[in-house]
Amino acid sequence: MSDGNNILRVNGLKVHFDTGRAPGGGRRIVHAVDGVNFSVKKGTCFGIVGESGSGKSTIAQAIMRLVPITEGSVFLKNLQISGLQGESLRDARARFQMVFQDPFSSLNPRKKARAAIREPLDLLGIGDAKGRDEVAEEMLTAVGLHRDAGRLFPHQFSGGQRQRLCIARALASRPDLIVCDEPVSALDVAIQAQILNLLRKLQQDMGLSYVFISHDLAVVQYICDEVGVMYLGQFVERAPVGKLFAEAKHPYTWSLMAAALSPEAERGALAKRPLLGGEPPSPTNPPKGCRFAARCPFATEKCKAEPPALRDFGGGHRVACHFAGELEPPIPELKSAA
Ligand SMILES: Nc1ncnc2c1ncn2[C@@H]1O[C@H](COP(=O)(O)OP(=O)(O)OP(=O)(O)O)[C@@H](O)[C@H]1O
Ligand code: SF4
Ligand SMILES: [Mg+2]
Repeated sequence: MSDGNNILRVNGLKVHFDTGRAPGGGRRIVHAVDGVNFSVKKGTCFGIVGESGSGKSTIAQAIMRLVPITEGSVFLKNLQISGLQGESLRDARARFQMVFQDPFSSLNPRKKARAAIREPLDLLGIGDAKGRDEVAEEMLTAVGLHRDAGRLFPHQFSGGQRQRLCIARALASRPDLIVCDEPVSALDVAIQAQILNLLRKLQQDMGLSYVFISHDLAVVQYICDEVGVMYLGQFVERAPVGKLFAEAKHPYTWSLMAAALSPEAERGALAKRPLLGGEPPSPTNPPKGCRFAARCPFATEKCKAEPPALRDFGGGHRVACHFAGELEPPIPELKSAA
């Protein structure tokens, strides 16, 4: 974790939301993120996957300082962004930007494209008006749009073009890190590929680093160097992408892979032998043992009683399961899921 090559370090991150009084007394606390560690090396992409509600967006928002951090720290290079307040936080904001899922709602319909891209520079007071316009035009071309497109309003662009605009806006302040929260989920599959290719090209051209959130394993496999699999506010498995897809060891990761098998025929076969049923437990009252135990076909009494640690299996592969390495995926097709 002390590698000087790291752009981002997230240490022991917890984000708990107090959502009011609990029925039997005390407070109702949502453990949205509950002890997460990872780092992102310069020029690489760290992916976070998991079901809806597992805490992916909350991690993104904590890094961006958009929600209060309950515990832990976030470092951007040597700057502890989790400890910044007021002016110093504002100054640091140029260095980390975010791209959201919905390019429709993240652009002000009354602002022309150039003004939208300039917006972070205006807010951060970077450069003069002419310089900001020049940066906006440069970013338009960097994301594959015509520099004259700056005169258009968001509704005059297609969905994919609007996401390009959002990426241009995120790039304008020349950040070290871009946090992408489901940036292609709202787009058609053909357009998704274009946006992913653009993100990869920008990464190479500008040395960018990404945190990339997605529920789609195929997307993660395509763009990420390392992946963390989230379940109920915690990583259950973390590994370099090739290792994860070839050697996944956690039953929850297997179930995600089974669900992601693409040919309909295989999916149909798997649907008859579901590995994963039910819903995740509530993050308001997470189970005391393994959080996956209620849905895991391998669960034992030990699983229900003791939380498994994230154990090191070498080569950057970590797994939080008492029996990792001893279990076999129950569905043979899973082995070809990569
Ligand atoms: N501001 C908030 N106040 C209370 N609870 C919240 C808040 N934000 C998120 N949560 C809860 O925290 C948990 C994690 O939510 P989060 O949005 O991070 O999940 P996610 O993995 O991004 O899900 P999705 O795939 O649906 O986007 C959920 O149970 C959610 O209801
Ligand atoms: S610790 Fe037990 S319940 Fe949890 S994933 Fe491993 S086998 Fe399943
Ligand atoms: Mg989300």
